[in-house]
Amino acid sequence: MARYALLTAPSSNRVYTQSAPDLVAAELSVFGERALEGRLEPAETVEFAGLPYLVFETEGGPLSDDELRVLANLSSGYALFEVTGDDLFRPIGRPGLDRFDDDLITIQKYAGKTNEHFTKLLLNVTVLATSWADQLLTRRFTVLDPVAGRGTTLNQALMYGWDAVGIELDGKDVEAYSAFLKTWLKRKRIKHTAEITPLRREGKRLGRRFDARIGDVREQPQHLALLEADTTSTRGLLKGNSIDVIVADLPYGVVHGSRTGKGLARGPQELLEESLPGWTALLRPGGALGMSWNTHVAPREDALDLLEENGLEAVDYEGFEHRVDQGINRDILVARKV
Ligand SMILES: C[S@@+](CC[C@H](N)C(=O)[O-])C[C@H]1O[C@@H](n2cnc3c(N)ncnc32)[C@H](O)[C@@H]1O
Repeated sequence: MARYALLTAPSSNRVYTQSAPDLVAAELSVFGERALEGRLEPAETVEFAGLPYLVFETEGGPLSDDELRVLANLSSGYALFEVTGDDLFRPIGRPGLDRFDDDLITIQKYAGKTNEHFTKLLLNVTVLATSWADQLLTRRFTVLDPVAGRGTTLNQALMYGWDAVGIELDGKDVEAYSAFLKTWLKRKRIKHTAEITPLRREGKRLGRRFDARIGDVREQPQHLALLEADTTSTRGLLKGNSIDVIVADLPYGVVHGSRTGKGLARGPQELLEESLPGWTALLRPGGALGMSWNTHVAPREDALDLLEENGLEAVDYEGFEHRVDQGINRDILVARKV
């Protein structure tokens, strides 16, 4: 049996304030169950020299190198130590999946941006709900954000070395994101191609699409696509069964109104109801959908019913509910396509 202490990133404590320790513990437990064969014992918060650490033990020997590389991707992890005796700390963290500078995710600032830590948390627990959770370090996942905004999820997927597709109705967001990514790739001198072309369905022009291929052409570059379209009508936009993971920070029904092609305001529930059949068809069997849910707007059970009506199987993650502000009490819902 080995004992470990995880120091969480100070920034995530700022984001989640009082809920931070519970959220980190909940994420750690999903990692333990889904990617580390249930080897992690439940964690508890312990103070050492005035700082709180999440302390846990492993069953069946110390964490292997690969297991440490898996844990390096925790959204709020900062430093990991092996603890011997009462309080002897040995730093043992390993590099995770990150393959670019973190300013890919932090540079863009705009109203309506989903918090970066939360986005990473949601992507992590959704990927860990798929049938390929044990391939976190090796599989190139294809991630879809069907309400992509200016690309926080897309950037996190790229950061992990994966392919990313976004759908966003607002042309200004598509423009801002494509301008950002092109400039960033140039500034970092990363090999790529990038183009904006018309997006058509059955010969009719819907909007634009932005495509980037990142990396050397001889080494299967990462593909990023952002489609300017209404997410309630994805028919003909993407191939069915082509997406491993869908991650959506739905409009909360507070700050953003969600919109449809008809120009009508929609609450998150209505948007979800209209979109789920299309989203589900895009998911590969074994894939998973994860989304944020404002429980002030509608009870969690309503969303779970909708997921199940669309043939998805809810995953019973617990401990992720937290307060964002007066109008938003955020929870995470994850379901898989069997
Ligand atoms: C909460 S924001 C997501 C922000 C994004 N995660 C980011 O960090 O940039 C929700 C997004 O959904 C988009 N949206 C709302 N209704 C939509 C629809 N019918 N089709 C496509 N996008 C829609 C909004 O324009 C908004 O950008």
